[in-house]
Amino acid sequence: MKLVERMTTLPSNSSVIRPMKKDDWEEFRNLDEEIFPDDAVSRESFEKRVEHEGFFALEIDSKRIVGCLILSRFGDDAGHLGRIGVAPLMQKRGLGTKLMDFAFRWL
Ligand SMILES: CC(C)(COP(=O)(O)OP(=O)(O)OC[C@H]1O[C@@H](n2cnc3c(N)ncnc32)[C@H](O)[C@@H]1OP(=O)(O)O)[C@@H](O)C(=O)NCCC(=O)NCCS
Repeated sequence: MKLVERMTTLPSNSSVIRPMKKDDWEEFRNLDEEIFPDDAVSRESFEKRVEHEGFFALEIDSKRIVGCLILSRFGDDAGHLGRIGVAPLMQKRGLGTKLMDFAFRWL
């Protein structure tokens, strides 16, 4: 789905952060290439990551992925935020803050 199609409605309060799924590949790739044009995640890497915990999609309206988050835990007291991204046209609306709040709770 193209970004312009994802933008047919305004963001609502119904955003959720949920684990990324294998079926999300097409939508994730379009989003990731928009946010990180020089460093997009490969399909191989995507498929490895969805097998493990710490890979999340930020979804609005129960269907459109507009953000992503990649986290890793190291033992009990260390973690790494590998990637955080929000679709360019959805930025500066608090969604990045929502992802960061989630990351601190999860890690
Ligand atoms: C970083 C990012 C996730 C923030 O998402 P967002 O939805 O715009 O975040 P919010 O609306 O919650 O904004 C939170 C605050 O962070 C600030 N902010 C956003 N990007 C920033 C950056 N790169 N450096 C410093 N501050 C930044 C915003 O200005 C805002 O501050 P304000 O409330 O004082 O205006 C988003 O800008 C993005 O996807 N950027 C491209 C990818 C990227 O650089 N990711 C980080 C490295 S992996």
